Amino acid sequence: MTYSTQPAEHLLSLRGISKRFGAVRALTDVDLDVYAGEVVAIVGDNGAGKSTLVKILSGVHPQDAGEISFEGVPVTISNPTEARGLGIETIYQDLSLCDNLDVVSNLWLGRELLTNGGLDEVAMEQQSWTLLRELNARIPSVRVPVAALSGGQRQVVAIARSLVGDPKVVILDEPTAALGVAQTAEVLNLIERLRERGLGVILISHNIADVQAVSDRIVVLRLGRNNGDLRVADVTSEMIIGAITGASDASLLRGTRPAAVAR
Ligand SMILES: Nc1ncnc2c1ncn2[C@@H]1O[C@H](COP(=O)(O)OP(=O)(O)OP(=O)(O)O)[C@@H](O)[C@H]1O
Ligand SMILES: [Mg+2]
Repeated sequence: MTYSTQPAEHLLSLRGISKRFGAVRALTDVDLDVYAGEVVAIVGDNGAGKSTLVKILSGVHPQDAGEISFEGVPVTISNPTEARGLGIETIYQDLSLCDNLDVVSNLWLGRELLTNGGLDEVAMEQQSWTLLRELNARIPSVRVPVAALSGGQRQVVAIARSLVGDPKVVILDEPTAALGVAQTAEVLNLIERLRERGLGVILISHNIADVQAVSDRIVVLRLGRNNGDLRVADVTSEMIIGAITGASDASLLRGTRPAAVAR
């Protein structure tokens, strides 16, 4: 793993984010930083607040309290269109692909390239291949319906689609949950390509091995609160699991915090 000696660009910064659903405190005073060219994993047990945090970032839910700044500027993210407009793309677990459409149509859905009033199929197909090649994606044909692709290939198409709008932050919610060993490796590889492109990547995962394989930093949520901000190189899987389950509390792990800031 190589790090630039230049200070990383601060893409996204959340401070004091709280969110309740009725009596349930889903998030309490949560902080999160994401830098350009960094993969940050968000881990935590079921109900820890991971998806709620993602939904706040993608404009699905407003936070009750706390500030979000994007590239140093305070922002409100009122709906998914605003999130996308800022450059935050979220890939949900269901992928939201159109099964009956081919790969090209899925990649460009809603952002189709036009020529003389019609669809510019040639340009869209060429740019699809360029994008998939840059990602080292193994898709046999861009003209097959995505229903015919494997789970891993569908994940790859969903990730490639998120890049068409040239985002700065990509959020992946459990991208490997339904995948086999080889497909998981391919998707993890793709996440490394996203980092190389200088994107900030937020990875939600329950799989500690995947998280250790691909992320630079791990933000642990426990019962809706921060419970560790760990530099992957500094921690063992036991330490990560300890932070998730509460065997280690945040104060013990605070010493590892400056990872991204100092690099
Ligand atoms: N729309 C909602 N209405 C009411 N309660 C909600 C809603 N969304 C989430 N919650 C509650 O907020 C808490 C955090 O949920 P969240 O889905 O963010 O957890 P998670 O970390 O994503 O869990 P998992 O690993 O199971 O996906 C839970 O107690 C959940 O029941
Ligand atoms: Mg969730």
